[in-house]
Amino acid sequence: MHHDFNLTATHVVFMDLPVVFDLETAKSGGGMPFRWRDDYQARLGVLRRDDPHGAIRWFPIDPCYAFHTLNAHDEPGRIVLHVSRYPSLWRQDSHLPEHASLWRWTIDLATGTVAEEQLDDRDAEFPRIDDRLAGLDSRFGHATVAGDSGALLRYDLHTGTGTAHEFGPGRIPAEAAFAPADDRPGGDGYLMTYVYNADTDRSDLVIVDASELAAPPVATIHLPARVPYGFHGNWLADK
Ligand SMILES: [Fe+2]
Repeated sequence: MHHDFNLTATHVVFMDLPVVFDLETAKSGGGMPFRWRDDYQARLGVLRRDDPHGAIRWFPIDPCYAFHTLNAHDEPGRIVLHVSRYPSLWRQDSHLPEHASLWRWTIDLATGTVAEEQLDDRDAEFPRIDDRLAGLDSRFGHATVAGDSGALLRYDLHTGTGTAHEFGPGRIPAEAAFAPADDRPGGDGYLMTYVYNADTDRSDLVIVDASELAAPPVATIHLPARVPYGFHGNWLADK
Protein backbone atom coordinates (compact mmCIF):
# COMPACT_ATOMS: atom_id res chain seq x y z
CA MET A 1 0.00 0.00 0.00
CA HIS A 2 1.79 3.06 -1.26
CA HIS A 3 0.08 6.12 0.23
CA ASP A 4 2.79 8.75 -0.20
CA PHE A 5 6.37 9.07 -1.37
CA ASN A 6 9.42 11.21 -0.72
CA LEU A 7 10.88 13.79 -3.05
CA THR A 8 14.26 15.54 -2.93
CA ALA A 9 15.92 17.84 -5.45
CA THR A 10 17.53 14.84 -7.17
CA HIS A 11 15.75 11.67 -5.98
CA VAL A 12 12.38 10.03 -5.47
CA VAL A 13 12.18 7.58 -2.54
CA PHE A 14 9.37 5.02 -2.43
CA MET A 15 8.30 3.27 0.78
CA ASP A 16 7.62 -0.43 0.16
CA LEU A 17 6.30 -1.50 3.56
CA PRO A 18 4.66 -4.65 4.97
CA VAL A 19 1.01 -3.57 4.59
CA VAL A 20 -0.09 -5.35 1.43
CA PHE A 21 -3.26 -6.12 -0.51
CA ASP A 22 -5.19 -9.03 1.02
CA LEU A 23 -7.74 -10.70 -1.23
CA GLU A 24 -9.54 -12.52 1.60
CA THR A 25 -10.14 -9.24 3.43
CA ALA A 26 -11.36 -7.64 0.21
CA LYS A 27 -13.83 -10.49 -0.37
CA SER A 28 -15.09 -10.43 3.22
CA GLY A 29 -15.73 -6.69 3.28
CA GLY A 30 -13.71 -6.41 6.47
CA GLY A 31 -12.56 -2.85 6.10
CA MET A 32 -9.55 -1.70 4.13
CA PRO A 33 -8.35 -4.62 1.97
CA PHE A 34 -4.80 -4.49 3.28
CA ARG A 35 -3.11 -6.38 6.11
CA TRP A 36 0.27 -6.46 7.83
CA ARG A 37 2.58 -9.25 6.69
CA ASP A 38 5.42 -10.36 8.97
CA ASP A 39 7.13 -12.08 6.04
CA TYR A 40 7.30 -8.95 3.89
CA GLN A 41 10.63 -7.08 3.96
CA ALA A 42 10.26 -3.33 4.55
CA ARG A 43 12.43 -1.35 2.17
CA LEU A 44 13.04 2.07 0.66
CA GLY A 45 13.41 2.42 -3.10
CA VAL A 46 15.63 5.22 -4.44
CA LEU A 47 15.15 6.48 -8.00
CA ARG A 48 17.17 9.25 -9.61
CA ARG A 49 15.01 12.05 -10.98
CA ASP A 50 17.40 12.55 -13.90
CA ASP A 51 17.04 8.86 -14.86
CA PRO A 52 13.36 8.06 -14.25
CA HIS A 53 13.47 4.86 -16.29
CA GLY A 54 16.60 3.63 -14.51
CA ALA A 55 16.76 0.90 -11.89
CA ILE A 56 15.38 1.51 -8.41
CA ARG A 57 17.97 0.90 -5.72
CA TRP A 58 16.47 -0.82 -2.66
CA PHE A 59 17.52 -0.34 0.98
CA PRO A 60 16.11 -2.66 3.71
CA ILE A 61 14.70 -1.09 6.89
CA ASP A 62 13.01 -2.36 10.04
CA PRO A 63 9.33 -3.34 9.77
CA CYS A 64 6.96 -0.37 10.10
CA TYR A 65 4.36 1.60 8.21
CA ALA A 66 4.20 5.27 7.17
CA PHE A 67 1.24 6.86 5.46
CA HIS A 68 2.78 10.32 5.28
CA THR A 69 6.13 11.94 4.80
CA LEU A 70 7.05 15.30 6.29
CA ASN A 71 9.79 16.13 3.80
CA ALA A 72 13.05 14.82 2.34
CA HIS A 73 16.30 16.37 1.20
CA ASP A 74 19.72 15.54 -0.21
CA GLU A 75 22.97 15.73 1.71
CA PRO A 76 26.40 14.77 0.32
CA GLY A 77 26.25 10.98 -0.12
CA ARG A 78 22.97 10.74 1.79
CA ILE A 79 19.23 11.20 1.53
CA VAL A 80 17.41 12.35 4.66
CA LEU A 81 13.70 11.52 5.14
CA HIS A 82 11.33 12.58 7.91
CA VAL A 83 8.15 10.52 8.23
CA SER A 84 5.25 9.73 10.58
CA ARG A 85 6.11 6.13 11.41
CA TYR A 86 3.85 3.42 12.90
CA PRO A 87 5.58 0.44 14.59
CA SER A 88 3.04 -1.77 12.80
CA LEU A 89 -0.37 -1.40 11.21
CA TRP A 90 -3.52 -3.42 10.51
CA ARG A 91 -2.43 -6.79 11.87
CA GLN A 92 -5.99 -7.85 12.77
CA ASP A 93 -8.27 -5.20 11.27
CA SER A 94 -8.00 -1.76 9.74
CA HIS A 95 -8.44 0.31 12.89
CA LEU A 96 -5.55 2.43 14.16
CA PRO A 97 -4.64 1.06 17.60
CA GLU A 98 -1.07 2.29 17.42
CA HIS A 99 0.15 5.83 16.98
CA ALA A 100 2.67 7.29 14.61
CA SER A 101 5.59 9.42 15.73
CA LEU A 102 8.26 11.42 13.95
CA TRP A 103 11.24 9.43 12.69
CA ARG A 104 14.26 10.29 10.61
CA TRP A 105 15.64 7.86 8.04
CA THR A 106 19.10 8.65 6.68
CA ILE A 107 19.99 6.66 3.58
CA ASP A 108 23.75 6.23 3.11
CA LEU A 109 24.21 5.82 -0.64
CA ALA A 110 27.81 4.58 -0.24
CA THR A 111 27.23 1.83 2.33
CA GLY A 112 23.70 0.92 1.25
CA THR A 113 22.39 1.22 4.80
CA VAL A 114 19.68 3.29 6.47
CA ALA A 115 20.05 4.88 9.92
CA GLU A 116 16.64 4.88 11.66
CA GLU A 117 16.04 7.33 14.49
CA GLN A 118 12.93 8.21 16.47
CA LEU A 119 12.93 11.96 17.10
CA ASP A 120 9.98 12.26 19.49
CA ASP A 121 7.58 9.94 21.31
CA ARG A 122 4.46 12.11 20.91
CA ASP A 123 1.80 11.11 18.43
CA ALA A 124 2.49 12.92 15.18
CA GLU A 125 0.41 12.51 12.05
CA PHE A 126 -0.41 14.66 9.02
CA PRO A 127 3.09 16.16 8.92
CA ARG A 128 3.44 19.41 6.98
CA ILE A 129 6.13 21.91 6.10
CA ASP A 130 6.20 25.25 4.35
CA ASP A 131 5.47 23.69 0.96
CA ARG A 132 7.89 26.05 -0.78
CA LEU A 133 10.67 23.93 0.79
CA ALA A 134 9.45 20.58 -0.51
CA GLY A 135 12.50 18.49 -1.37
CA LEU A 136 14.87 20.91 0.36
CA ASP A 137 16.27 21.05 3.91
CA SER A 138 13.27 22.48 5.76
CA ARG A 139 14.30 23.41 9.29
CA PHE A 140 10.77 23.39 10.67
CA GLY A 141 8.12 20.69 10.45
CA HIS A 142 4.60 20.52 11.85
CA ALA A 143 2.32 17.66 12.81
CA THR A 144 -1.07 16.95 14.37
CA VAL A 145 -1.81 15.09 17.60
CA ALA A 146 -5.31 13.77 16.97
CA GLY A 147 -5.95 11.88 20.20
CA ASP A 148 -8.45 12.65 22.98
CA SER A 149 -6.38 15.72 23.87
CA GLY A 150 -5.36 17.21 20.57
CA ALA A 151 -2.41 19.42 19.74
CA LEU A 152 -0.34 20.85 16.94
CA LEU A 153 3.42 20.28 17.06
CA ARG A 154 6.27 22.27 15.58
CA TYR A 155 9.67 20.62 15.30
CA ASP A 156 12.99 22.37 14.78
CA LEU A 157 14.78 19.61 12.91
CA HIS A 158 18.13 21.40 13.10
CA THR A 159 18.22 21.72 16.90
CA GLY A 160 16.02 18.72 17.82
CA THR A 161 13.62 20.85 19.84
CA GLY A 162 9.89 21.37 19.58
CA THR A 163 6.90 23.36 20.74
CA ALA A 164 3.20 22.53 20.96
CA HIS A 165 -0.20 24.15 20.84
CA GLU A 166 -2.49 22.15 23.13
CA PHE A 167 -6.21 22.21 22.42
CA GLY A 168 -7.16 20.29 25.56
CA PRO A 169 -9.54 17.37 26.15
CA GLY A 170 -12.36 16.92 23.67
CA ARG A 171 -10.90 19.24 21.03
CA ILE A 172 -9.36 17.36 18.14
CA PRO A 173 -7.49 19.07 15.30
CA ALA A 174 -7.05 17.83 11.77
CA GLU A 175 -4.18 18.38 9.39
CA ALA A 176 -2.75 21.89 9.65
CA ALA A 177 -1.94 23.71 6.43
CA PHE A 178 0.92 26.22 6.55
CA ALA A 179 0.06 29.69 5.25
CA PRO A 180 3.20 31.80 4.65
CA ALA A 181 3.32 35.28 6.17
CA ASP A 182 5.85 36.63 3.69
CA ASP A 183 7.98 35.76 0.68
CA ARG A 184 10.78 34.02 2.60
CA PRO A 185 10.50 30.22 2.30
CA GLY A 186 10.86 28.76 5.78
CA GLY A 187 10.03 32.06 7.39
CA ASP A 188 7.08 33.10 9.51
CA GLY A 189 3.61 31.84 8.83
CA TYR A 190 0.40 30.45 10.23
CA LEU A 191 -0.99 26.99 10.80
CA MET A 192 -4.66 26.61 9.94
CA THR A 193 -6.73 23.63 11.00
CA TYR A 194 -10.27 22.53 11.73
CA VAL A 195 -10.71 21.60 15.38
CA TYR A 196 -13.66 19.43 16.36
CA ASN A 197 -15.23 20.28 19.72
CA ALA A 198 -16.89 17.21 21.23
CA ASP A 199 -18.89 19.33 23.74
CA THR A 200 -20.68 21.39 21.10
CA ASP A 201 -20.46 18.89 18.24
CA ARG A 202 -19.23 21.73 16.06
CA SER A 203 -15.91 22.66 14.54
CA ASP A 204 -13.75 25.76 14.63
CA LEU A 205 -11.28 26.94 12.03
CA VAL A 206 -8.29 27.80 14.22
CA ILE A 207 -5.33 29.89 13.07
CA VAL A 208 -2.13 29.89 15.14
CA ASP A 209 1.18 31.67 14.62
CA ALA A 210 3.63 28.89 13.75
CA SER A 211 6.56 30.81 15.31
CA GLU A 212 4.60 31.37 18.56
CA LEU A 213 2.86 28.06 18.65
CA ALA A 214 2.17 27.89 22.39
CA ALA A 215 0.49 31.32 22.36
CA PRO A 216 -3.31 31.65 22.12
CA PRO A 217 -4.67 31.37 18.58
CA VAL A 218 -4.52 34.39 16.30
CA ALA A 219 -8.12 33.67 15.37
CA THR A 220 -10.80 31.09 16.12
CA ILE A 221 -13.63 31.05 13.59
CA HIS A 222 -16.71 29.29 14.95
CA LEU A 223 -18.49 27.27 12.32
CA PRO A 224 -22.20 26.43 12.53
CA ALA A 225 -21.67 22.70 12.04
CA ARG A 226 -19.19 19.94 12.46
CA VAL A 227 -16.61 19.53 9.71
CA PRO A 228 -16.09 15.77 9.42
CA TYR A 229 -12.56 14.53 9.97
CA GLY A 230 -10.87 15.04 6.68
CA PHE A 231 -7.72 13.92 5.03
CA HIS A 232 -5.60 16.64 3.55
CA GLY A 233 -5.95 20.33 2.83
CA ASN A 234 -4.04 23.26 1.44
CA TRP A 235 -3.92 27.01 1.79
CA LEU A 236 -4.15 29.03 -1.42
CA ALA A 237 -3.49 32.73 -1.10
CA ASP A 238 -6.07 35.03 -2.72
CA LYS A 239 -3.92 37.14 -5.01
FE1 LIG B 1 -2.99 10.74 3.34
